[in-house]
Amino acid sequence: MNFKLVTILGARPQFVKAAVLSRVIAEHNKIEEVIIHTGQHYDTNMSDVFFTEMNIPKPKYNLAINGMGHGAMTGQMLERIEKILLDEKPDAVVVYGDTNSTLAGALATKKLGIKLIHIEAGLRSFNMAMPEEINRILTDRIADLLLCPTDTAIQNLHDEGFDNFTNKIVKSGDIMKDAVTYYSKESAEKAKIYQRLELKQNNFVLATIHRQENTDDLNSLLSIFEGLSQISKEQVVVMPLHPRTKKILENNNLEYNIRFIDPVGYFDMLELLKNCSMVITDSGGLQKEAFFNKKPVIIARTETEWVELVENGFATIVGADSTKMYQTYLDYKETQFDFSISLYGDKIGKQMYKEISKLIL
Ligand code: UD1
Repeated sequence: MNFKLVTILGARPQFVKAAVLSRVIAEHNKIEEVIIHTGQHYDTNMSDVFFTEMNIPKPKYNLAINGMGHGAMTGQMLERIEKILLDEKPDAVVVYGDTNSTLAGALATKKLGIKLIHIEAGLRSFNMAMPEEINRILTDRIADLLLCPTDTAIQNLHDEGFDNFTNKIVKSGDIMKDAVTYYSKESAEKAKIYQRLELKQNNFVLATIHRQENTDDLNSLLSIFEGLSQISKEQVVVMPLHPRTKKILENNNLEYNIRFIDPVGYFDMLELLKNCSMVITDSGGLQKEAFFNKKPVIIARTETEWVELVENGFATIVGADSTKMYQTYLDYKETQFDFSISLYGDKIGKQMYKEISKLIL
């Protein structure tokens, strides 16, 4: 293999996305893929489980950089990734999404004059208080190939003047959809969560909360959990608990009648999605995974990057407003949704591979 691609990842949603593309790259057998794991997420159930279940190639490098402030984390990643890229001399580097690992990888790559590919490009929340918004804006501007999941993402780039720049912009669809399609059968066979928790089909709500804008503002967090508590009087609320949220609940001695469980792997998450009645979340990825699994979603944020979910009635933004959350829950219970519309493309990994090939082969 004469061509080399370095993939940089570090946080949970990136493992899911990379699983799809890594498989397509391996199938074609033309490009060598070298994976750098920054170590941003490191607990077994936040990281290893995804590599095992989804058969992601073992990272050649694991930098173990985590549990520090944004500056230190991004800075240390930048320094270490640069050294590796100097050794590996790849033809291009792929980064995913909007995390600190994405930004550090992007900066290290471009400063060395290596081609940069950004997957999930063009998304915007227009909320500059989110670290993710800063990371994605900066990464988009310097990437050579911008693989955009939606028309909205492409429009965002046009609006920011990207027509004046040389970045190549392509609508590829959303890679998380391929993951749901590919692993759905296997998860049904292998996941144990449904039996373990003894849940009734369509009679529990799946919730996740981890965004810094919610966890670092105690009033927001209290209000979100008040809404969830109210709902839990009617339906079991199952929450795989992110370590950041866990720490804050524990430090403030907050207890709720919610079925807290440890973070789950991809198979368990898919089965929870298939069997829940609806999803309440501040995660970006889970909003779409709910849609792919034909479930409506209540968004505990003040905006979303996935506006087509809201426009088509599959999602409602409630922020940290507990009353609005509960009311939306009641409305959803009475609504029949038609999920037959396609919003995020098809065979996305293949399309991405084609574009990446044009750039480097
Ligand atoms: C990060 C991303 C966010 C993404 C999310 C997915 C940034 C700025 N944010 O947020 O865009 O949606 O990942 O989950 O990059 N921790 C553990 N064990 C772990 C991982 C984290 O204990 O396996 C702890 C960390 O030490 C830290 C906290 O959880 O105290 C938050 O982790 P961090 O990676 O900073 O941000 P996330 O909230 O996960």
